[in-house]
Amino acid sequence: MSATDGSTHEPHKIVDKLHRPLRDLRVSVTDRCNFRCVYCMPKAVFDKDYKFLPRSELLSFEEIIRVVKAAAEFGVSKIRLTGGEPLLRHDIEKLIRWIGEVDGISDISLTTNATLLTEKRAYALREAGLQRLNVSLDAIDDETFSAVNDVDASVQSVLDGIENARVAGFESIKVNMVVKKGLNDHSIVPMAKHFHGTGQILRFIEFMDVGNSNAWDMSHVISSKQIAELIQTEMPIEPIEANYKGEVAKRWRYKDGGGEIGIITSVSEPFCGDCSRARLSATGSIYTCLFASSGHDLRETLRQENDQALHEKLKRIWTTREDRYSETRTHVAVLRPKVEMSFIGG
Ligand code: GTP
Ligand code: 5AD
Ligand code: SF4
Ligand code: SF4
Repeated sequence: MSATDGSTHEPHKIVDKLHRPLRDLRVSVTDRCNFRCVYCMPKAVFDKDYKFLPRSELLSFEEIIRVVKAAAEFGVSKIRLTGGEPLLRHDIEKLIRWIGEVDGISDISLTTNATLLTEKRAYALREAGLQRLNVSLDAIDDETFSAVNDVDASVQSVLDGIENARVAGFESIKVNMVVKKGLNDHSIVPMAKHFHGTGQILRFIEFMDVGNSNAWDMSHVISSKQIAELIQTEMPIEPIEANYKGEVAKRWRYKDGGGEIGIITSVSEPFCGDCSRARLSATGSIYTCLFASSGHDLRETLRQENDQALHEKLKRIWTTREDRYSETRTHVAVLRPKVEMSFIGG
């Protein structure tokens, strides 16, 4: 029974070394994706010879649930499923159903490129208990979108997925657009115009230096200030309050009532101070930062030890955490190894 059913779940909340609680667990269920976005899985690295994880190395749903339960014991109430592309994982609906049964979990969401989101799939996800969907879409014309996804996926295939989700009952779907200068910055205003008045919340994400394969440098970043100014000239907007402490997107609303947008300012205005997110990789490692070089392995603990050992390990990982990468980044990509975004999700 979940907390939303009125159970009396009392987590033992823990904080890290910078006094940040653990609230949010992002679970990557696969490292595979049907896209090759140039800023995330560039073909030069993720080519036909790239060795994706064998099945045996992926956590089973049972193992994921054990980690979710342990995290909920320490105060996690939000679970986000990511990938790679999470809809590539067979029977993800079953995992969603099981997560919904964990005491203390009140919010289950999923980030997807939506191309596999048929109407049937969208209904199945909804019935399984998925509450929210965030969809990645980086342009509204096929030429630019293909240049980003690099597999000739059409804009319409994503818009169809969003529509199927809406029909199945998902409300205020968030659409994430990573903005990279020279690649898709000319799509900022057209994307805003497209989603204005639709009820879907478009969020612009500053291009980040995650991983080591996307050749990031500061000159590729369009700042949140520039993004807001560009939109402001076409459609007046004003800032609004965050929905909750630690929300990654700064919210703006259209003055004409056409809804809201968000800007994720990881580079220009980092939000590490409120970061309460842990990430679980598909292989069972916990990453306490999107920019970490390495994770803390839980798979061996899961496979060899009992839940008590798992709890202790998770507690130790969080209570010794002091990551605040985005607050300390410099203008050139850091050369130490960093985990790839497609491996631990966004
Ligand atoms: P909700 O508010 O629950 O909808 O979640 P969210 O806004 O975190 O959703 P989403 O997973 O769509 O995150 C959007 C993007 O924000 C991600 O793809 C990342 O690019 C960025 N992001 C999310 N969390 C972090 C974080 O902890 N650090 C940094 N630097 N970026 C993040
Ligand atoms: N910078 C910012 N966002 C990124 N994402 C993937 N790579 C990057 C990057 N380098 C985003 C995707 C998607 C989510 C999974 O992470 O667009 O919305
Ligand atoms: Fe796939 Fe998302 Fe990465 Fe694009 S950004 S390659 S859709 S995981
Ligand atoms: Fe959290 Fe690391 Fe992102 Fe900062 S850079 S908000 S610590 S995940």
